[in-house]
Amino acid sequence: MDPRSEVLLRQAELFQGSLLLTGLPADDLLGTLPNARGWSWHAGDFAALDARFGARTHFGTEPPAEAFDAAVLFLPKARDLSDYLINALASRLAGKELFLVGEKRGGIEAAARQLSPLGRARKLDSARHCQLWQVTVENPPQAVELDSLAKHFEIDVNGEPLKIVSLPGVFSHGRLDRGSALLLENIANLPTGHLLDFGCGAGVLGAAVKRRNPGMQVTLLDVDAFATASSRLTLAANGLEGEVITGDGIDAAPKHLDSILTNPPFHTGVHTDYAATETLLRKARDHLKKGGEMRLVANSFLRYQPIIEQHLGVCAVLAEGQGFRIYRAKRG
Ligand SMILES: C[S@@+](CC[C@H](N)C(=O)[O-])C[C@H]1O[C@@H](n2cnc3c(N)ncnc32)[C@H](O)[C@@H]1O
Repeated sequence: MDPRSEVLLRQAELFQGSLLLTGLPADDLLGTLPNARGWSWHAGDFAALDARFGARTHFGTEPPAEAFDAAVLFLPKARDLSDYLINALASRLAGKELFLVGEKRGGIEAAARQLSPLGRARKLDSARHCQLWQVTVENPPQAVELDSLAKHFEIDVNGEPLKIVSLPGVFSHGRLDRGSALLLENIANLPTGHLLDFGCGAGVLGAAVKRRNPGMQVTLLDVDAFATASSRLTLAANGLEGEVITGDGIDAAPKHLDSILTNPPFHTGVHTDYAATETLLRKARDHLKKGGEMRLVANSFLRYQPIIEQHLGVCAVLAEGQGFRIYRAKRG
């Protein structure tokens, strides 16, 4: 059981009415709280919860339509995202209870201050390196449209501006990441045909490739529904076509690809998590045609080259700078 769920269960008597668990971990909490429903935007967690609890789990960037007696928010990493989620929940909870749970090292103490405009926030428990806070929503805010919280910026692709639309919680929210910028300087001579932007975030890489090569087919994949919603907005803002998939890892990607372009994940929440990237490096060959290419950017300290050579084929360093390396590997 996730330590945050354990802290909630120490106060289980508070959660007997209809309850929305927002951003919940994929553990047994729903099994223990029969009146609760879950809301997730992580395709992997959702698949695990859906397999066990079916209709009791909701997926997407918007809360489920029905009313609840109370809601719990599992504090996400990004401040912009917790702002959006607190607004989305509190605007539906006039006179009702909103709870916030999170790890101390995830900044729960500071985040609890975000509850103050709603009413008098109280710390209910502190255990397992986590805290549980509660507020009765006396001043419900107006609901804010998610799209109105998007940050818009432009990047240069072949001397032309490409519009990027980034929603709260999306990687490198509102600006181009340095690693992605270096990768964009090194996207010449990708094989034509079908390209996968793995871990697409706001869709920067896939949209840039499509802009440079209108004849190419692009698929953008991310595990996070806020990221894929951003990617759809980015493609639409530039009048570009592309397939967007919300799915967990390379297993959710199409096969027979000509190329995979990626700035792959290596942090999940406050924990470091290389699992999705390691699986990508091991299984890329199953998704690439013979002679297909994977091009990726990674921090120079990450030792990806031997893993790529073991599983895919000869791997060269195309460029290096500012602590990042660009790798190019062909499927042998
Ligand atoms: C380093 S960011 C790169 C984002 C974007 N491509 C860019 O360059 O700005 C990595 C992305 O991988 C996504 N991700 C993490 N785990 C994943 C998984 N299991 N399957 C697919 N995408 C994942 C994250 O949500 C994040 O958007």
